Amino acid sequence: MGVIRIAASPSPSIATIHHGFRSSKRNSGRFMAASLPTEQVDGTRNRVTGDSFIRLHLKKLSPYQPILPFEVLSTRLGRKPEDIIKLDANENPYGPPPEVLDALGALRFPYVYPDPQSRRLRAALAEDSGLDSDYILAGCGADELIDLIMRCVLDPGDKIVDCPPTFTMYEFDAAVNGALVIKVPRLSDFTLDIPRIVEVVEQEKPKCIFLTSPNNPDGSIINDEALLEILNLPILVVLDEAYIEFSGMKSRMDWVKKHENLIVLRTFSKRAGLAGLRVGYGAFPLSIIEYLWRAKQPYNVSVAAEVAACAALQNPGYLERVKNSLVQERQRLYNLLKGVPFLKPYPSYSNFILCEVTSGKDAKKLKEDLAQMGVMIRHYNNKELKGYVRVSVGKPEHTDALMECLNLLQ
Ligand SMILES: Cc1ncc(COP(=O)(O)O)c(C=O)c1O
Repeated sequence: MGVIRIAASPSPSIATIHHGFRSSKRNSGRFMAASLPTEQVDGTRNRVTGDSFIRLHLKKLSPYQPILPFEVLSTRLGRKPEDIIKLDANENPYGPPPEVLDALGALRFPYVYPDPQSRRLRAALAEDSGLDSDYILAGCGADELIDLIMRCVLDPGDKIVDCPPTFTMYEFDAAVNGALVIKVPRLSDFTLDIPRIVEVVEQEKPKCIFLTSPNNPDGSIINDEALLEILNLPILVVLDEAYIEFSGMKSRMDWVKKHENLIVLRTFSKRAGLAGLRVGYGAFPLSIIEYLWRAKQPYNVSVAAEVAACAALQNPGYLERVKNSLVQERQRLYNLLKGVPFLKPYPSYSNFILCEVTSGKDAKKLKEDLAQMGVMIRHYNNKELKGYVRVSVGKPEHTDALMECLNLLQ
Protein backbone atom coordinates (compact mmCIF):
# COMPACT_ATOMS: atom_id res chain seq x y z
CA MET A 1 0.00 0.00 0.00
CA GLY A 2 1.04 3.51 -0.68
CA VAL A 3 4.25 2.88 -2.55
CA ILE A 4 5.33 5.39 -5.12
CA ARG A 5 7.61 3.92 -7.72
CA ILE A 6 9.83 6.22 -9.63
CA ALA A 7 12.48 5.18 -12.10
CA ALA A 8 16.03 5.56 -10.83
CA SER A 9 17.01 7.01 -14.20
CA PRO A 10 14.85 9.96 -15.24
CA SER A 11 12.55 8.24 -17.64
CA PRO A 12 8.99 9.43 -17.02
CA SER A 13 7.46 6.68 -19.05
CA ILE A 14 8.35 3.92 -16.58
CA ALA A 15 7.15 5.67 -13.42
CA THR A 16 4.23 3.97 -11.71
CA ILE A 17 2.22 5.54 -8.98
CA HIS A 18 -0.08 3.52 -6.78
CA HIS A 19 -2.44 5.16 -4.32
CA GLY A 20 -5.25 5.10 -6.86
CA PHE A 21 -3.32 7.31 -9.26
CA ARG A 22 -3.07 5.87 -12.75
CA SER A 23 0.36 5.79 -14.18
CA SER A 24 0.67 8.05 -17.17
CA LYS A 25 3.32 10.02 -18.93
CA ARG A 26 1.69 13.23 -17.81
CA ASN A 27 1.49 12.64 -14.08
CA SER A 28 4.69 10.67 -13.85
CA GLY A 29 6.59 13.69 -15.11
CA ARG A 30 5.23 15.66 -12.18
CA PHE A 31 6.29 13.10 -9.64
CA MET A 32 9.74 12.84 -11.16
CA ALA A 33 10.52 16.23 -9.72
CA ALA A 34 10.38 14.90 -6.18
CA SER A 35 13.54 13.26 -4.88
CA LEU A 36 11.75 10.73 -2.70
CA PRO A 37 13.33 7.54 -1.44
CA THR A 38 11.34 4.98 -3.37
CA GLU A 39 10.97 1.43 -4.49
CA GLN A 40 13.18 1.05 -7.49
CA VAL A 41 11.86 -0.58 -10.68
CA ASP A 42 14.60 -3.19 -10.54
CA GLY A 43 12.97 -4.45 -7.38
CA THR A 44 15.43 -2.93 -4.92
CA ARG A 45 13.40 -1.77 -1.95
CA ASN A 46 13.95 1.84 -1.06
CA ARG A 47 10.79 2.66 0.86
CA VAL A 48 9.31 6.11 1.17
CA THR A 49 9.55 7.34 4.73
CA GLY A 50 7.19 9.97 6.09
CA ASP A 51 9.95 12.42 6.90
CA SER A 52 10.93 12.61 3.23
CA PHE A 53 7.85 14.82 2.79
CA ILE A 54 8.90 17.29 5.49
CA ARG A 55 10.36 20.64 4.46
CA LEU A 56 14.14 20.54 4.79
CA HIS A 57 14.52 23.48 7.13
CA LEU A 58 12.09 21.91 9.60
CA LYS A 59 14.23 18.81 9.92
CA LYS A 60 16.79 20.96 11.71
CA LEU A 61 14.23 22.57 14.02
CA SER A 62 14.55 21.90 17.75
CA PRO A 63 11.10 21.52 19.30
CA TYR A 64 9.78 24.33 21.52
CA GLN A 65 10.16 23.41 25.19
CA PRO A 66 6.74 23.95 26.69
CA ILE A 67 5.98 23.51 30.39
CA LEU A 68 4.50 20.21 31.54
CA PRO A 69 0.69 20.05 31.71
CA PHE A 70 -0.63 20.27 35.26
CA GLU A 71 -1.92 16.66 35.33
CA VAL A 72 1.36 15.22 34.00
CA LEU A 73 3.31 17.25 36.53
CA SER A 74 1.00 16.11 39.28
CA THR A 75 1.59 12.43 38.44
CA ARG A 76 5.33 12.93 38.12
CA LEU A 77 5.62 14.70 41.46
CA GLY A 78 3.09 12.46 43.17
CA ARG A 79 1.13 15.50 44.36
CA LYS A 80 -2.41 16.67 43.72
CA PRO A 81 -2.55 19.58 41.23
CA GLU A 82 -3.93 21.86 43.96
CA ASP A 83 -0.87 21.08 46.10
CA ILE A 84 1.55 22.27 43.42
CA ILE A 85 2.70 25.87 43.60
CA LYS A 86 3.13 26.88 40.01
CA LEU A 87 5.54 29.75 39.65
CA ASP A 88 7.10 28.66 36.35
CA ALA A 89 4.96 30.06 33.54
CA ASN A 90 3.87 33.57 34.58
CA GLU A 91 0.24 32.54 34.78
CA ASN A 92 -2.19 34.61 36.81
CA PRO A 93 -2.99 32.53 39.91
CA TYR A 94 -6.18 34.49 40.64
CA GLY A 95 -7.81 33.28 37.44
CA PRO A 96 -10.52 35.20 35.61
CA PRO A 97 -13.40 37.16 37.19
CA PRO A 98 -16.47 35.05 38.14
CA GLU A 99 -18.40 36.41 35.14
CA VAL A 100 -16.19 34.26 32.90
CA LEU A 101 -17.26 30.93 34.35
CA ASP A 102 -20.90 32.05 34.35
CA ALA A 103 -20.65 33.03 30.70
CA LEU A 104 -18.93 29.78 29.74
CA GLY A 105 -21.59 27.77 31.58
CA ALA A 106 -24.29 29.64 29.69
CA LEU A 107 -22.82 29.07 26.20
CA ARG A 108 -25.79 28.56 23.90
CA PHE A 109 -24.31 27.82 20.50
CA PRO A 110 -21.07 25.90 20.92
CA TYR A 111 -21.99 23.85 17.87
CA VAL A 112 -21.89 26.90 15.59
CA TYR A 113 -18.56 28.19 14.26
CA PRO A 114 -17.30 31.37 15.89
CA ASP A 115 -17.36 34.83 14.33
CA PRO A 116 -14.26 34.93 12.08
CA GLN A 117 -13.94 38.65 12.84
CA SER A 118 -14.42 38.33 16.63
CA ARG A 119 -16.65 41.43 16.36
CA ARG A 120 -17.96 41.39 19.94
CA LEU A 121 -14.51 40.98 21.39
CA ARG A 122 -12.96 43.65 19.16
CA ALA A 123 -15.70 46.10 20.10
CA ALA A 124 -15.03 45.39 23.80
CA LEU A 125 -11.29 45.78 23.21
CA ALA A 126 -11.87 49.09 21.44
CA GLU A 127 -13.67 50.33 24.54
CA ASP A 128 -10.97 48.91 26.81
CA SER A 129 -8.05 50.37 24.86
CA GLY A 130 -9.53 53.51 23.34
CA LEU A 131 -8.34 52.37 19.90
CA ASP A 132 -10.89 51.88 17.14
CA SER A 133 -11.67 48.20 16.46
CA ASP A 134 -10.52 48.55 12.83
CA TYR A 135 -6.96 48.50 14.14
CA ILE A 136 -7.50 45.38 16.26
CA LEU A 137 -7.28 41.71 15.38
CA ALA A 138 -7.71 38.86 17.89
CA GLY A 139 -5.93 35.53 17.89
CA CYS A 140 -5.49 32.20 19.61
CA GLY A 141 -3.12 33.77 22.11
CA ALA A 142 -0.45 36.31 21.27
CA ASP A 143 1.53 33.25 20.17
CA GLU A 144 -0.70 32.76 17.15
CA LEU A 145 -0.29 36.40 16.16
CA ILE A 146 3.51 36.18 16.31
CA ASP A 147 3.38 33.29 13.85
CA LEU A 148 0.73 34.99 11.70
CA ILE A 149 2.82 38.15 11.41
CA MET A 150 5.83 36.12 10.34
CA ARG A 151 3.78 34.20 7.79
CA CYS A 152 2.60 37.48 6.29
CA VAL A 153 5.94 39.29 6.35
CA LEU A 154 8.77 36.82 5.90
CA ASP A 155 9.92 34.98 2.83
CA PRO A 156 12.23 32.02 3.45
CA GLY A 157 15.72 33.43 3.95
CA ASP A 158 14.50 36.81 5.24
CA LYS A 159 16.01 38.01 8.49
CA ILE A 160 14.58 39.06 11.83
CA VAL A 161 16.31 40.74 14.76
CA ASP A 162 15.92 39.10 18.15
CA CYS A 163 17.29 40.61 21.38
CA PRO A 164 18.02 37.78 23.82
CA PRO A 165 17.49 36.97 26.55
CA THR A 166 13.84 37.28 25.62
CA PHE A 167 10.71 35.28 24.85
CA THR A 168 11.94 32.32 22.80
CA MET A 169 8.86 32.04 20.57
CA TYR A 170 10.23 34.73 18.22
CA GLU A 171 13.27 32.63 17.44
CA PHE A 172 11.22 29.44 17.26
CA ASP A 173 8.58 30.86 14.88
CA ALA A 174 11.28 32.41 12.71
CA ALA A 175 12.82 28.94 12.33
CA VAL A 176 9.42 27.43 11.47
CA ASN A 177 8.94 30.12 8.84
CA GLY A 178 12.39 29.56 7.31
CA ALA A 179 13.72 32.95 8.40
CA LEU A 180 17.19 33.73 9.73
CA VAL A 181 17.61 35.18 13.20
CA ILE A 182 20.16 37.92 13.86
CA LYS A 183 20.75 38.13 17.57
CA VAL A 184 21.58 41.44 19.18
CA PRO A 185 22.04 40.46 22.83
CA ARG A 186 20.83 42.83 25.52
CA LEU A 187 23.41 44.67 27.62
CA SER A 188 24.30 43.44 31.11
CA ASP A 189 21.44 45.46 32.65
CA PHE A 190 19.09 43.90 30.06
CA THR A 191 18.55 47.17 28.16
CA LEU A 192 18.61 47.05 24.36
CA ASP A 193 21.91 47.56 22.54
CA ILE A 194 20.53 50.31 20.28
CA PRO A 195 23.78 51.22 18.44
CA ARG A 196 24.21 47.54 17.50
CA ILE A 197 20.57 47.27 16.40
CA VAL A 198 21.05 50.34 14.15
CA GLU A 199 24.22 48.81 12.68
CA VAL A 200 22.60 45.44 12.05
CA VAL A 201 19.56 47.02 10.36
CA GLU A 202 21.86 48.96 8.02
CA GLN A 203 24.14 46.05 7.21
CA GLU A 204 21.83 43.03 7.19
CA LYS A 205 18.54 44.62 6.08
CA PRO A 206 16.35 42.49 8.36
CA LYS A 207 12.60 42.72 7.81
CA CYS A 208 11.43 42.93 11.39
CA ILE A 209 12.50 43.17 14.99
CA PHE A 210 10.75 41.69 18.03
CA LEU A 211 10.83 43.82 21.18
CA THR A 212 9.26 42.92 24.50
CA SER A 213 8.21 45.41 27.15
CA PRO A 214 8.25 44.33 29.93
CA ASN A 215 10.77 41.78 28.72
CA ASN A 216 10.44 38.12 29.61
CA PRO A 217 12.50 36.88 31.53
CA ASP A 218 14.02 39.93 33.27
CA GLY A 219 11.05 42.29 33.54
CA SER A 220 12.78 45.40 32.15
CA ILE A 221 10.88 47.94 30.06
CA ILE A 222 11.69 49.88 26.88
CA ASN A 223 11.44 53.65 27.22
CA ASP A 224 9.91 55.96 24.62
CA GLU A 225 13.25 57.31 23.45
CA ALA A 226 14.65 53.85 22.68
CA LEU A 227 11.46 52.73 20.98
CA LEU A 228 11.28 55.87 18.82
CA GLU A 229 14.89 55.42 17.75
CA ILE A 230 14.12 51.90 16.55
CA LEU A 231 10.86 52.99 14.92
CA ASN A 232 12.88 55.45 12.84
CA LEU A 233 14.71 52.56 11.20
CA PRO A 234 13.41 50.89 8.02
CA ILE A 235 12.17 47.82 9.86
CA LEU A 236 8.84 46.46 11.10
CA VAL A 237 8.76 46.67 14.89
CA VAL A 238 6.66 44.09 16.75
CA LEU A 239 6.27 45.30 20.32
CA ASP A 240 5.09 42.50 22.59
CA GLU A 241 3.19 43.93 25.57
CA ALA A 242 2.04 40.62 27.08
CA TYR A 243 2.86 41.94 30.58
CA ILE A 244 2.20 45.66 30.14
CA GLU A 245 -0.54 45.75 32.83
CA PHE A 246 2.00 45.03 35.57
CA SER A 247 4.40 47.79 34.48
CA GLY A 248 2.40 50.87 35.46
CA MET A 249 3.02 52.13 31.91
CA LYS A 250 0.44 52.96 29.30
CA SER A 251 0.16 50.55 26.38
CA ARG A 252 1.53 51.83 23.08
CA MET A 253 -1.41 50.34 21.16
CA ASP A 254 -2.50 53.74 19.86
CA TRP A 255 0.98 54.44 18.46
CA VAL A 256 0.05 52.22 15.50
CA LYS A 257 -2.00 55.12 14.13
CA LYS A 258 1.16 57.20 13.80
CA HIS A 259 3.75 54.54 12.97
CA GLU A 260 3.19 52.44 9.87
CA ASN A 261 5.97 50.09 10.98
CA LEU A 262 4.65 49.26 14.46
CA ILE A 263 2.57 46.32 15.68
CA VAL A 264 1.63 45.98 19.37
CA LEU A 265 0.66 42.59 20.81
CA ARG A 266 -1.26 41.91 24.02
CA THR A 267 -2.94 38.97 25.70
CA PHE A 268 -5.66 37.87 28.11
CA SER A 269 -3.37 35.15 29.49
CA LYS A 270 -1.74 37.33 32.13
CA ARG A 271 -4.06 40.26 32.76
CA ALA A 272 -7.25 38.19 32.91
CA GLY A 273 -6.09 34.73 33.99
CA LEU A 274 -7.18 33.14 30.70
CA ALA A 275 -3.95 31.42 29.60
CA GLY A 276 -5.80 28.13 29.16
CA LEU A 277 -8.45 29.60 26.88
CA ARG A 278 -5.96 31.19 24.47
CA VAL A 279 -6.95 34.74 23.61
CA GLY A 280 -4.52 37.38 22.42
CA TYR A 281 -4.92 40.52 20.36
CA GLY A 282 -2.89 43.00 18.46
CA ALA A 283 -3.01 46.59 17.26
CA PHE A 284 -1.88 47.02 13.66
CA PRO A 285 -1.56 49.87 11.16
CA LEU A 286 -4.48 49.68 8.72
CA SER A 287 -2.05 49.13 5.86
CA ILE A 288 -0.88 45.89 7.49
CA ILE A 289 -3.99 44.51 9.20
CA GLU A 290 -5.75 44.02 5.87
CA TYR A 291 -3.30 41.25 4.94
CA LEU A 292 -3.50 39.56 8.32
CA TRP A 293 -7.25 39.30 7.85
CA ARG A 294 -6.67 37.57 4.53
CA ALA A 295 -4.07 35.11 5.86
CA LYS A 296 -5.43 34.15 9.26
CA GLN A 297 -7.33 30.95 9.98
CA PRO A 298 -11.01 31.93 9.75
CA TYR A 299 -12.03 30.49 13.14
CA ASN A 300 -8.89 31.23 15.12
CA VAL A 301 -10.69 32.52 18.22
CA SER A 302 -13.08 29.88 19.58
CA VAL A 303 -16.59 30.65 20.80
CA ALA A 304 -15.48 29.87 24.36
CA ALA A 305 -12.40 32.09 24.09
CA GLU A 306 -14.37 35.07 22.77
CA VAL A 307 -17.14 34.71 25.35
CA ALA A 308 -14.60 34.39 28.17
CA ALA A 309 -12.57 37.41 27.07
CA CYS A 310 -15.68 39.59 26.70
CA ALA A 311 -16.91 38.52 30.14
CA ALA A 312 -13.50 39.33 31.67
CA LEU A 313 -13.62 42.84 30.23
CA GLN A 314 -17.02 43.36 31.84
CA ASN A 315 -15.36 43.38 35.25
CA PRO A 316 -12.50 45.89 34.99
CA GLY A 317 -12.61 46.37 38.77
CA TYR A 318 -11.62 42.73 39.29
CA LEU A 319 -8.81 42.93 36.72
CA GLU A 320 -7.48 46.05 38.44
CA ARG A 321 -7.64 44.50 41.93
CA VAL A 322 -5.84 41.34 40.80
CA LYS A 323 -3.17 43.39 39.05
CA ASN A 324 -2.65 45.51 42.18
CA SER A 325 -2.34 42.39 44.35
CA LEU A 326 0.30 40.94 42.03
CA VAL A 327 2.25 44.20 41.84
CA GLN A 328 2.20 44.49 45.62
CA GLU A 329 3.26 40.87 46.01
CA ARG A 330 6.07 41.39 43.50
CA GLN A 331 7.63 43.95 45.84
CA ARG A 332 7.32 41.66 48.87
CA LEU A 333 8.73 38.69 46.92
CA TYR A 334 11.64 40.81 45.63
CA ASN A 335 12.56 41.93 49.16
CA LEU A 336 12.41 38.38 50.45
CA LEU A 337 14.47 36.98 47.56
CA LYS A 338 17.11 39.65 48.21
CA GLY A 339 17.57 38.12 51.64
CA VAL A 340 18.37 34.65 50.22
CA PRO A 341 22.17 34.29 50.32
CA PHE A 342 22.43 32.40 47.02
CA LEU A 343 20.05 34.55 44.91
CA LYS A 344 20.46 37.93 43.25
CA PRO A 345 17.01 39.12 42.12
CA TYR A 346 16.55 41.79 39.44
CA PRO A 347 13.93 44.52 39.84
CA SER A 348 10.96 43.75 37.59
CA TYR A 349 8.07 45.61 35.98
CA SER A 350 6.24 42.35 35.36
CA ASN A 351 4.63 39.43 37.19
CA PHE A 352 7.91 37.52 37.54
CA ILE A 353 11.37 38.06 38.98
CA LEU A 354 14.62 36.89 37.41
CA CYS A 355 17.33 35.80 39.85
CA GLU A 356 20.96 34.98 39.31
CA VAL A 357 21.88 31.88 41.30
CA THR A 358 25.14 32.70 43.11
CA SER A 359 27.48 31.29 45.75
CA GLY A 360 28.30 28.17 43.74
CA LYS A 361 24.73 26.85 43.84
CA ASP A 362 23.50 25.14 40.70
CA ALA A 363 20.38 26.71 39.13
CA LYS A 364 19.08 23.45 37.65
CA LYS A 365 19.52 21.60 40.94
CA LEU A 366 17.75 24.43 42.74
CA LYS A 367 14.80 24.16 40.37
CA GLU A 368 14.72 20.37 40.79
CA ASP A 369 14.94 20.52 44.59
CA LEU A 370 12.07 23.01 44.71
CA ALA A 371 10.02 20.84 42.33
CA GLN A 372 10.45 17.88 44.69
CA MET A 373 8.95 20.10 47.39
CA GLY A 374 6.04 20.99 45.10
CA VAL A 375 7.20 24.47 44.04
CA MET A 376 7.77 24.94 40.32
CA ILE A 377 10.08 27.66 39.02
CA ARG A 378 11.83 28.12 35.67
CA HIS A 379 15.57 27.76 35.23
CA TYR A 380 17.81 29.00 32.41
CA ASN A 381 20.96 27.47 31.10
CA ASN A 382 21.54 28.94 27.67
CA LYS A 383 24.17 31.15 26.10
CA GLU A 384 22.63 34.39 27.33
CA LEU A 385 21.48 33.21 30.75
CA LYS A 386 23.53 30.58 32.49
CA GLY A 387 22.69 29.86 36.08
CA TYR A 388 19.52 31.93 36.39
CA VAL A 389 16.02 31.16 37.61
CA ARG A 390 12.75 33.00 37.05
CA VAL A 391 10.02 33.01 39.67
CA SER A 392 6.48 34.07 38.78
CA VAL A 393 4.66 36.25 41.28
CA GLY A 394 1.88 34.30 42.95
CA LYS A 395 -0.49 34.84 45.87
CA PRO A 396 1.03 35.75 49.26
CA GLU A 397 0.72 32.14 50.43
CA HIS A 398 2.72 31.01 47.37
CA THR A 399 5.52 33.40 48.31
CA ASP A 400 5.45 32.06 51.88
CA ALA A 401 5.69 28.45 50.71
CA LEU A 402 8.53 29.28 48.31
CA MET A 403 10.47 31.07 51.05
CA GLU A 404 10.02 28.15 53.44
CA CYS A 405 11.47 25.79 50.83
CA LEU A 406 14.34 28.16 49.99
CA ASN A 407 15.19 28.37 53.68
CA LEU A 408 15.38 24.57 53.84
CA LEU A 409 17.85 24.61 50.96
CA GLN A 410 20.31 27.04 52.56
C1 LIG B 1 6.51 37.96 26.09
C2 LIG B 1 5.39 37.01 25.84
N1 LIG B 1 4.61 37.19 24.77
C3 LIG B 1 3.59 36.37 24.51
C4 LIG B 1 3.31 35.29 25.33
C5 LIG B 1 2.22 34.34 24.97
O1 LIG B 1 0.99 34.90 25.17
P1 LIG B 1 -0.31 34.03 24.86
O2 LIG B 1 -0.59 33.20 26.06
O3 LIG B 1 -1.37 35.07 24.62
O4 LIG B 1 -0.03 33.23 23.65
C6 LIG B 1 4.09 35.07 26.46
C7 LIG B 1 3.80 33.92 27.33
O5 LIG B 1 4.42 33.61 28.29
C8 LIG B 1 5.18 35.93 26.71
O6 LIG B 1 5.99 35.74 27.75
